[in-house]
Amino acid sequence: MTERVKCAVLISGGGSNMQALAQAALDEAYPAQIDLVIANRPNAGGLDKARRFGIQAMCIDHKDFENREKFERALHSVLHQAGIELVVCAGFMRVLTPWFVSRWPGRIINIHPSLLPKYKGLHTHRRALEAGDTEHGASVHWVSEELDGGAVIAQAHVPIAPGDTEESLAAKVLLKEHPLYVRALRSTAQKILESRGKN
Ligand code: GRF
Repeated sequence: MTERVKCAVLISGGGSNMQALAQAALDEAYPAQIDLVIANRPNAGGLDKARRFGIQAMCIDHKDFENREKFERALHSVLHQAGIELVVCAGFMRVLTPWFVSRWPGRIINIHPSLLPKYKGLHTHRRALEAGDTEHGASVHWVSEELDGGAVIAQAHVPIAPGDTEESLAAKVLLKEHPLYVRALRSTAQKILESRGKN
């Protein structure tokens, strides 16, 4: 079997991006495999979606921990024990601290619903509309210690139509996120596989 990059997808909600990645990874020629899905909320709909793909899915509920670092220590330990090489955040609504990020150097990616560096943080669709922008989109980027501040890997652009609302724009962007993330994870995993060959 072809060697692939072992990935864990972190989610907080519906997991439609995770589902798109899991679907792509059904093809053994795809350079990443999804070994594990972890949600920080027990009611995250994506957990069942992952199980339907036969992927191990679990919740590490951040509310069970006294503080952020204890939650992250538990997360780190599960990822480490599973032999995960790349952490793929997909609608994971917890900010990762420098403690966690420094343990996974060049090994965490995220999808963010804006054309970074524009609109880091929350309510990106509303902010794009309020600014009168004519286009919006999504970015896949490396996770660094600065929130939504790591280098961009790939972006998808979405035109803003005159009648767009926050909801209609969010829906259009989400549809573009899925193929974008599949493409960005492919290129990221390919680079990891190539760098393995050089070591
Ligand atoms: C996506 O728009 C993602 O960019 C944002 O949260 C949404 C998650 O959607 N951070 P899903 O859980 O992948 O369906």
